[in-house]
Amino acid sequence: MKEQIEKLQAKRQQALLGGGQKRIDDQHRKGKLTARERIDLLLDAGSFEEIGMFVEHRGRDFSIDKEVYLSDGVVTGYGTIQGRLVYVFSQDFTVFGGSLSETHAEKICKLMDLALKNGAPVIGLNDSGGARIQEGVVSLGGYADIFYRNTIASGVIPQISAILGPCAGGAVYSPAITDFIMMVEQTSYMFVTGPNVVKTVTHEDVTSEQLGGAEAHATKSGVTHFTYANEVACIQGIKKLVSYMPSNCDESAPALNYEPGNEVREKLNSIIPANPNQPYDMRDIIAEVVDADSFYEVHKGYAENIVVGFARIAGRSIGVVANQPAVLAGVLDINSSKKGARFVRFCDCFNIPLLTLVDVPGFLPGTDQEWHGIISNGAKLLYAFSEATVPKLTVIVRKAYGGAYDVMNSKHIGADMNFAWPNAEIAVMGAKGAAEIIFKREIAESANKEEKLKEVVDAYSENFANPYKAAARGFVDEVIEPSQTRAKLIRAFKMTENKAVKLPRKKHGNIPL
Ligand code: HXC
Repeated sequence: MKEQIEKLQAKRQQALLGGGQKRIDDQHRKGKLTARERIDLLLDAGSFEEIGMFVEHRGRDFSIDKEVYLSDGVVTGYGTIQGRLVYVFSQDFTVFGGSLSETHAEKICKLMDLALKNGAPVIGLNDSGGARIQEGVVSLGGYADIFYRNTIASGVIPQISAILGPCAGGAVYSPAITDFIMMVEQTSYMFVTGPNVVKTVTHEDVTSEQLGGAEAHATKSGVTHFTYANEVACIQGIKKLVSYMPSNCDESAPALNYEPGNEVREKLNSIIPANPNQPYDMRDIIAEVVDADSFYEVHKGYAENIVVGFARIAGRSIGVVANQPAVLAGVLDINSSKKGARFVRFCDCFNIPLLTLVDVPGFLPGTDQEWHGIISNGAKLLYAFSEATVPKLTVIVRKAYGGAYDVMNSKHIGADMNFAWPNAEIAVMGAKGAAEIIFKREIAESANKEEKLKEVVDAYSENFANPYKAAARGFVDEVIEPSQTRAKLIRAFKMTENKAVKLPRKKHGNIPL
């Protein structure tokens, strides 16, 4: 037995070394951790149980394949984060650039199958040059096996992808199907084809960072939901994100202990500027309404005219969707609709109640928006809110105009409680635009057009630019003093805690993608 144990220990040592010390040193020189160091940082100390440490690649057609690296470029297993089970795979760039071979893919698939059967999140730490080129079609098949599992597991267990190095070719599509993507500034890249191919095909000169770096994906494409200055911050971010979500779609997110206290927030009475056209930062309202320092913003740098993120209210996880008047007056456009819809659907998949804060002047007009499909993209947010069966609360803090009133979790599409602040303006459009249309003739025929316009604008405002018409119809349940908002929401979320809604039987809906 002694001999066998020594052999086992030697094999373990070999596996722990990945592609060898020189490549590990290279990895560190680039400011990157190794696959195993990342797992150590992510999981509770001593909780990691590895699966498939001695797996070897099968492709042996070329001289470069002769060297065998145990684990075959990906470390897989399970462990805990704050005591909760998670499954992790961590690609090892020191072995064939973390590229995906047949066996590498099999290890990830085995892990995903276990995660799905046992109902716990899968966290992928990606660092890969894509399909293992020398293995050919079996590596392409391996990718498809993973994509298929990503899709089947979608909405059943949370899936999180951290991009911690280059992710090229097929390596980007698995993260794209998962729920959240995180990237690290200057060291992680995602692209279907890299700068060299781009240069050949389109003659564009572009660096990896410009093409698919963290900033590009955080601000231009919206592919990544979070960016971090370094890997340690990124891994802390994963742990934080997991804390807001349940382990699977049949559970609720873990709640933190909450001691009831004074829930009045006087500051809310003075955040909205006196001039209804003046911007302010919606995050100031969010910070007052949710538990202290609990807001974790998602997609922060993308479509900034809408703010989405996780928070806690009285210790319970919620998802916040809020128009942002500080950017484009908080208007809804294509990107903000897609961003909001994706977030709403995640929350609904995983039983996370929704809070919607509304200050929206409508949809963004213009040829750019129309030609790029504001109709079908705006409909995504409408569809997502309508379809969501989690508790849904809405507070109209200032404007709720036009179609955007309907879309932003209105009573009509299934919101459970709708509050409005006393300054709320709920109408088909702003008073001036509305008055100019419906009183066009009166204004034209008037001796003093300016005075007439002011008169009809005032009349329209008096009638519609307030929350009381909506409250009289029951579209708004209660008009509240802003300072009472947090207290009202705590009670309303408690009241809706056991909400149970069944949608009509169907295979699945057909969201306008
Ligand atoms: C096999 C690979 C590899 C790959 C990298 N390596 N990518 N081996 N298959 N796809 C190996 C290199 O040979 C090298 O081995 C080691 O990994 C490190 O690579 P370097 O190039 O030295 O590193 P770096 O300069 O950091 O560049 C990393 C990189 C680059 C940007 C990822 O290697 C690269 O461009 N690789 C190819 C990317 C690619 O085109 N992938 C697409 C595959 S097709 P040694 O022995 O020297 O350490 C695909 C389609 C799937 O994925 C479609 C499914 C839908």
